[in-house]
Amino acid sequence: MKYLDVEIRPMTDSDLPQVMEIENTSFLHPWKEKDFHYEMHENPVSNVWVIEYSNASLGLKTIVGFVDYWVTFDSGTICQIAVHPDIRRSGVGSELMDEVIKDAKIKKIRTLTLEVRESNEKAIKFYQKYGFNISHVKPSYYSNGENALYMILEVN
Ligand SMILES: CC(C)(COP(=O)(O)OP(=O)(O)OC[C@H]1O[C@@H](n2cnc3c(N)ncnc32)[C@H](O)[C@@H]1OP(=O)(O)O)[C@@H](O)C(=O)NCCC(=O)NCCS
Repeated sequence: MKYLDVEIRPMTDSDLPQVMEIENTSFLHPWKEKDFHYEMHENPVSNVWVIEYSNASLGLKTIVGFVDYWVTFDSGTICQIAVHPDIRRSGVGSELMDEVIKDAKIKKIRTLTLEVRESNEKAIKFYQKYGFNISHVKPSYYSNGENALYMILEVN
């Protein structure tokens, strides 16, 4: 019997309470449920996935993170990636990023891009570990006036 299963799958409406808990503890200006609803049901370019840990013997399932990435032609954009604060730095974000890169290769995507707050050193280190490079600064990109770093990964 397998004790712990890990599954990355498309987000559904019933995931939203757990997703919102992660969202609200991860971002300065968190998305609302309606934003995830749009990504799941209306945005034609989005891929919005959760990572779920399950304990078969106890019948428990817990969402520990999620990612939203957009695909337009040969480009991918990571819009959101977050891991539950209680379980960060234990490889969950990497499992999500591995899945994004695997999917990007299948879809023949050439570059993955993203914006990250200049102050978000942990996330910048995370992206750099995957080979993302800082392309340029987007001044005052965020509503509080903070700059964004625009980062790019050559995929294929
Ligand atoms: C960024 C984030 C998704 C990373 O997820 P994670 O599950 O903690 O990352 P991992 O455990 O897979 O870490 C992979 C690598 O990233 C880097 N990294 C991750 N967290 C780090 C930290 N706190 N300090 C320094 N490096 C870190 C390390 O290189 C790490 O590899 P190592 O542990 O072998 O040294 C997570 O910190 C998070 O949810 N942050 C809040 C939301 C956020 O800022 N999202 C990004 C918005 S642009």
